[in-house]
Amino acid sequence: MWTEGDIVFLLDDKGKKFWLKLERGMIKLPSLGVIDGNKIIEAGDGGCVSLAGKNFTVLSPGVSDLMEAVERGAQIIMPKDAATIVFELDLKDGDVVVEAGLGSGALTTALLHSVEPTGKVISVELREDFGDKGRRNVAKTRSKRLWTLRIGDIRTIELEQKADAVVLDMPDPWVAVDNVSRFLRSGGRLCVYVPNTNQLELVVKKMRASGFVEVKALENIQRAMEVHDMGVRPSYEMLGHTGYLAFGRLACQAQKQ
Ligand SMILES: C[S@@+](CC[C@H](N)C(=O)[O-])C[C@H]1O[C@@H](n2cnc3c(N)ncnc32)[C@H](O)[C@@H]1O
Repeated sequence: MWTEGDIVFLLDDKGKKFWLKLERGMIKLPSLGVIDGNKIIEAGDGGCVSLAGKNFTVLSPGVSDLMEAVERGAQIIMPKDAATIVFELDLKDGDVVVEAGLGSGALTTALLHSVEPTGKVISVELREDFGDKGRRNVAKTRSKRLWTLRIGDIRTIELEQKADAVVLDMPDPWVAVDNVSRFLRSGGRLCVYVPNTNQLELVVKKMRASGFVEVKALENIQRAMEVHDMGVRPSYEMLGHTGYLAFGRLACQAQKQ
């Protein structure tokens, strides 16, 4: 059941999304003019509304919709990589996850969703200006109450709480591995996301040298398919490259060093 304040979107017949915060009464939308919020609340998830002479489907967003709609600054982690991160880190209700940096908060949206309803996500971000952008994006999620932002440097920050998992999406993650080993619990999982192979090599070697076990690296390649009346083929607009992922688990020998 929807309530006022929920974020939803209207989908037109060309697949364009119009985002809005639910309110009773008249709502002003930049590209649609003034629309009746009561009609949208009454239509509910998957319902149809007719506004300004056009038909729309009303939908509540999933995690990937929210990630793709974030206000962007730095490069974001895409849903295909976020899905692998959440799965490989074995995230679940109650887990404590630390990420650096926050950037636009796209990955944060997926992390928050995966630890609902009682887990915790702590984002460590070096730059105050990215903190503001990420904060606005996280505010659109249902699970924002599970989120803490720490402005600081993941290479030196001290965290009071042990983490079940850590994600590093920053230019020099190998420099952060020693500090991460101090607050990641024994057996806890580390994920690193980097765009270049030279960064991947450096961080994987650092993880192995620091006592991480089950270290593996991979790239996710996903091809969207277009299904037309005349045939089926991969999309011409395929995203060529996003990044490489490395995973590992902290073994006790790393913590004793
Ligand atoms: C590519 S962005 C992260 C994007 C984010 N994962 C997303 O999906 O929106 C990298 C971020 O790492 C931050 N950063 C770089 N070095 C850092 C450090 N040592 N500690 C904390 N944050 C750092 C940058 O300021 C930047 O905001």
